[in-house]
Amino acid sequence: MKGLILAGGAGTGLRPLTHTGPKQLIPIANKPNILYCLEDVRDAGITEIGVILGENMPEKVRELLGDGSSFGVSITYIVQGAPKGIAHAVGCAREFMGSDPFVVYLGDNLLKGGIREMAEEFSKGDAEAQVALCRVPKPQRFGVAELDEDGNIISLVEKPKEPKSDLALVGIYFFRESVFPIIDELKPSWRNELEITEAIDNIRKAGNLVRAHVVSGWWKDTGRPEDILEANQLILQDLETSIDGDIEEGARTSGNVRIEKGSRILSGSVIKGPVVIGKNCEIGPDTYVGPYTSIGDSTKIVGGEIEDTIVVGDCIIDCGKRIVHSLIGKHSKILSSEDEKPAGHRLIIGENSSVMI
Ligand code: TTP
Repeated sequence: MKGLILAGGAGTGLRPLTHTGPKQLIPIANKPNILYCLEDVRDAGITEIGVILGENMPEKVRELLGDGSSFGVSITYIVQGAPKGIAHAVGCAREFMGSDPFVVYLGDNLLKGGIREMAEEFSKGDAEAQVALCRVPKPQRFGVAELDEDGNIISLVEKPKEPKSDLALVGIYFFRESVFPIIDELKPSWRNELEITEAIDNIRKAGNLVRAHVVSGWWKDTGRPEDILEANQLILQDLETSIDGDIEEGARTSGNVRIEKGSRILSGSVIKGPVVIGKNCEIGPDTYVGPYTSIGDSTKIVGGEIEDTIVVGDCIIDCGKRIVHSLIGKHSKILSSEDEKPAGHRLIIGENSSVMI
């Protein structure tokens, strides 16, 4: 079996973070989302992996993944270009897949528990396609499946107003080469994309078996800022303590905390896990870092409090305030202007930023 990881798309829902790179590279607990996907595919025993590249700084994906050898896989890049839909992206991989069965993994999805079991099921079974489903509270936002008693799909509708079930389509699909002629026949939808839900439903309508695998752990599609923060919380829940940096006398940590090489926690600071702090950071003095915070490499935080937040990296936060539920992009500075006159909030904010003061 081969793998296909999608790193294309426009990522408009995550601007301005996607002004500096594709959304699949946004770090969740300090690790780019796409690496969780790559590891899931690899851990299912799949080492030949195609990566779909879009138009938004694809070179950053190449830079991170290289030829795959440092992750124990072999990567072939496939350029999709403009985001013409997930089914279009899959269609671009026709030559790479040849006659092998394959798994498609959306590079902005995260799944607890990996895909090994699903991959084994698909390899052994006689289904023409297989999808992963997850029970969700608001199925209207997703592709929704209806199953028969044997767990086979009997209907699949994209964002239905009246969902037939609470089973949402997870961004992980298994196909055989029979999917390609079906993609050839698709017409662009109202949003001008070739829809994967329609391709899967057409496989079923042609009389083939489409199996469903209902996942038992959590699943997250990180298309919106609130999803990214939630994904960060979910990953940090399983964090294990490892301290490679220095914790000065008078500073303390509690709960599960990871502090990487070259980082220093200065006196009077409190780090209350789960928290991950990357390399070469300086936190303190007298700074509070609260649960579910991920701080990327080379960040300096002086004073104040920060909680339930992602700081992507190379940032300076020196404002003495309490920052919560926030996503702070690379090279950002949050400073205080209180000593200056006239006092007030001075902001240099990029396109599509959002600030709550
Ligand atoms: P979406 O989130 O549906 O699309 P998008 O990235 O264009 O996002 P937005 O609506 O915020 O602009 O994409 C799901 C996944 O599939 C995501 O990882 C990007 C990837 N994708 C492609 O690789 N090619 C495509 O043509 C599309 C539409 C998505």
